[in-house]
Amino acid sequence: MSISSCTEFVKVEVCEGILHIRLNRPDKLNALTRVMYRAMADALDASNQDDEVRVVLISGSEGCFTAGNDLADFRLAGTDCDERPLNPFLQAIIRTTKPIVAAVAGVAVGIGTTMLLHCDLVYAGTNARFRLPFVNLGLCPELGSSALLPLLMGHQRAAEMLLLGEPFGAETAREVGLVNTVCADEALLDTALANARKLAAQPPASVRLTKMLMKRARESAVLGVMEEELVHFNERLRSPEAAEALQAFSERRQPDYSSFN
Ligand code: COA
Repeated sequence: MSISSCTEFVKVEVCEGILHIRLNRPDKLNALTRVMYRAMADALDASNQDDEVRVVLISGSEGCFTAGNDLADFRLAGTDCDERPLNPFLQAIIRTTKPIVAAVAGVAVGIGTTMLLHCDLVYAGTNARFRLPFVNLGLCPELGSSALLPLLMGHQRAAEMLLLGEPFGAETAREVGLVNTVCADEALLDTALANARKLAAQPPASVRLTKMLMKRARESAVLGVMEEELVHFNERLRSPEAAEALQAFSERRQPDYSSFN
């Protein structure tokens, strides 16, 4: 194994040509901190350079993919006067040349759902619960999802997911094209691994070329959208609406936007 960017909360290993990134912060539902994003980005970047790696697999911990960005980090960013540093994971997942397989169990919130738009094969357990609560948090979509979601499923279904921000299950995710296959929870990782192994056995240059060709047509548009989203996202993090949403989460109460306009 030539890649060893393991941290406490992100485990990375290479086995049989598969670079496996495993989120491992179960007590916080694998909420992603800056350190975790860095570790994931480093592993993805390293996968591009390492001939031993043919496929990337992203999974969470037992029964949990990720509850999205760490909300405590968002609160800090909202009070920070400096510009929030660019999230390296956003760039890295778009730059990844090897196919990415995701195994989604339990919660997949925010970036836990939007990162799937940049994966190639996505498997979900029947217990998977997806949610895009950017508006609910006074924020806006990221990772190009404001463009990619309507493209994938049409405006109305994307609007429902983004504007109402309600949770949806694995079957809905499959119907709208976010997920390839819904598996029994206990079979999820084996199914994802089996398909990752199939990909690893394919001719590697042809796999990389085909992935590049499929993504190329939309690549520059997605990068442009991401840049615009980021500008708004950083502004929104400092907005009174986001402050109320994040305060409400930390106090375990419903946010109240009745006095906002
Ligand atoms: N950031 C930081 N901590 C988080 C978190 C997040 N995104 N999501 C969950 N946690 C923490 C909780 O604070 C709690 O920690 P504690 O036990 O120290 O209090 C722990 O993880 C378990 O979460 P809890 O809310 O008790 O679990 P639940 O099963 O009742 O609810 C969710 C699960 C996913 C519905 C709920 O945790 C949630 O809404 N999280 C926020 C998701 C979110 O908005 N992410 C950002 C998207 S942009």
